[in-house]
Formats: sequence, C-alpha cells, structure tokens
Amino acid sequence: VSLTASNTFGFEVEAERYAEVSNIAEIPPLLAKIEKQGWPLLILGGGSNLVLSSKLPGCVLQIVLRGYEVLEEQADHVIVRVAAGEEWHQCVTQCLQSGWYGLENLALIPGRVGAAPVQNIGAYGVELKDVVSRVDVYDRIAKQFDSLTLDQCCFGYRDSVFKSVYPDRYLITHVCFKLSKVPSVKVAYAALESACRHLYPNVESFSPQQVFEAVCFVRRSKLPDPGKLGNAGSFFKNPVVSSDVFFELRAAFPELVAYPDPQGYKLAAGWMIDYLGWKGRLLGSVGVYKDQALVLVNHGGGSRENIESLSAQIQDDVMKNFRVFLEVEPRFYP
Ligand code: EPU
Repeated sequence: VSLTASNTFGFEVEAERYAEVSNIAEIPPLLAKIEKQGWPLLILGGGSNLVLSSKLPGCVLQIVLRGYEVLEEQADHVIVRVAAGEEWHQCVTQCLQSGWYGLENLALIPGRVGAAPVQNIGAYGVELKDVVSRVDVYDRIAKQFDSLTLDQCCFGYRDSVFKSVYPDRYLITHVCFKLSKVPSVKVAYAALESACRHLYPNVESFSPQQVFEAVCFVRRSKLPDPGKLGNAGSFFKNPVVSSDVFFELRAAFPELVAYPDPQGYKLAAGWMIDYLGWKGRLLGSVGVYKDQALVLVNHGGGSRENIESLSAQIQDDVMKNFRVFLEVEPRFYP
C-alpha cells in the first residue's frame, strides 16, 4: 500500500500491510492479531510529524475515528471529547464556531487530533497541555481501554508519556479538551501580538476569532503548506541551555534570539541555522525552507536518507559554531 499521500514530507513510501480503524471495537482484535504475528506496528494519524523509510515492514494502522461529544457543559466552560481521526485544524475551527475558546493559537497545525498529545503540539504561546483535560487510549500492555489524566500524560516541551516514556504502549482514541465559554485570548507571543496589531489597528482587546485569523496569517507568511511543499513543520527542537551557557553565547553572538525558560534559556534554533547561512539552501531534492530555517522541505523526489544527511550537516555546523546540539523533532520510522 502506498503511503506517499499520507506523509506530509511526500516521500514515496510503501507499507507491507495497512489497515484503518474507524470503530474502537476493531482495536482489540486487530492489535491481538498484529501481536500474534509479531509484526512491527506504526500507528498513523495525519503523517505530519514523521520521517518514513521507503519500505515499511509489518503493519501500519491509520486511525480514522471521527466525532465530537460534549461531556460536560457549565456556565463558563465545556469539556468536549474529540475522536483521534478528526483533522486538527478542523477541530480548532469547529470549537471556535461553537463558542468554545482556547485552541485559537494552535490553528493551522497539520495533522490529526490523536497525534496532538504525542508531541504536545504548541505554537504562539499555547501548548496542548494548557487545554487538555484527559486522553483516552487503548493500553497495549494491559490490553484494555483506559484514560490518562493530565498528570499521567507527562507533558513537556514537544514531549509526553506517549513519545518518550512508553512510545508504543498507547493507541490514542480520543482527546478531551476543557475550553472556556468566556472569550479570553493569549497574545503575549511577540510575533502574534504584532500580527494582531497589524491586522486590527484600531482594536483595544482582541477576540478569539481575531487571534485565530492572526495566527493563520503569521503561519501562512512563514511556514510552507505541506499540500504544496513537503515538510514536517519544525525539524529541530529549540535547545534549552543553562543561563551560564546562554550568557557566554550571547557575548559571542549579541543578536542571538532566546527566551527565558524554567531551566535557563530556550534558544531559537531557526535563528542559529539562519545565521549560518542555511536558509533556502538545497541539497539535491531537499533543502531548508526559504522563509523559516527551522523547517526542512522536500522539493520533490526526496527521501529519508536525503533529509538525514541534510539534518546531520546542519547539526554539525551548529555544534561547531555554537557548541549546541540540535535535537531532531519528528519521529523517524522504522
Ligand atoms: N528566526 C530567524 N530565522 C529563521 C527562523 C527564525 O531569525 O529562519 C528567529 C525569528 O525571527 C524569531 C525566532 O527565531 O525571533 C523564533 O522564530 P519563530 O517565531 O518562527 O518560532 P520558532 O521558535 O522557530 C517555534 C515552534 C513552532 C511554532 C513557533 C511559534 C519549535 C520546535 N517550533 O518555532 O512549531 O509554530 O515557535 O510558536 O518549538 C512545529 O513544532 O512544527 C512548529 C512549527
């Protein structure tokens, strides 16, 4: 089965076996069969945070569960349970239209709802962990359906229990969000605030709809649309360094962009890569995006191997010049 249309890098990928899950009742027997056969398993959402090899052994399961359900409604908030197969951006717009606020800053992130908790998606000052109340899963070890509380999800910067503690244990079926019915917005992220001011010059306090529009505007201006140019969003995490390391680096590179972080400072990896002249550079069919150096792109015909060599060259260059290791963000499989 070809997965070329199911990975946003647009790599040519063939899966040995492929199945879709559109009903949770199918999950236990399907997983039992996969386990019995000893097939390696990849659980696929929208394929927007993956770097895939051209041949995938075993079985790929794509989660296509759909639907929204209000679990609780109070005067000031709702708890809504969304199935893993819903498109993320569609979920953001649907909630906004329903008058449920909190997801606006996460507009236009590619992928599906079920993948959002895995790397705790985040943008423009909001992370998934700020809006999630519970994640519903099938536990492949206990062989039963279960729910994880916010604490049990161990959310961190682009990290969660689903990514680093138990990478293959849970199949996410639904995500529950606690959203406000009272409009309240977060526009502290500098690029977002200036977009709001630019789009709505005479407005004092911005509405959730305006913040949504501003986020879409900023993203469209610097991030490539995976439908047009293959990519997986930010390719590297922004590295966190101690305050000492940060002050040393800033003495050497006064324009270095960084943000205070509980553990010291989070450095803008995009700035470092850009500073070293990588923005817009090509290496065969792959390259660094022309408007955002943290995003690697496939101009057509590229592969995992091409991306790996480009990524290694960037990591080496950043290490040589800044003495900082850039951790790769998307998952490589297998
Ligand atoms: N910068 C440059 N040159 C570049 C890119 C960035 O100088 O080529 C500078 C910018 O001018 C800015 C700073 O670096 O001062 C930060 O850039 P930006 O606001 O674009 O954000 P980022 O740190 O590069 C992170 C997330 C994005 C998220 C944005 C907005 C990570 C790994 N990436 O990018 O998330 O949309 O912040 O919140 O944390 C993703 O994870 O796939 C993703 C797109």
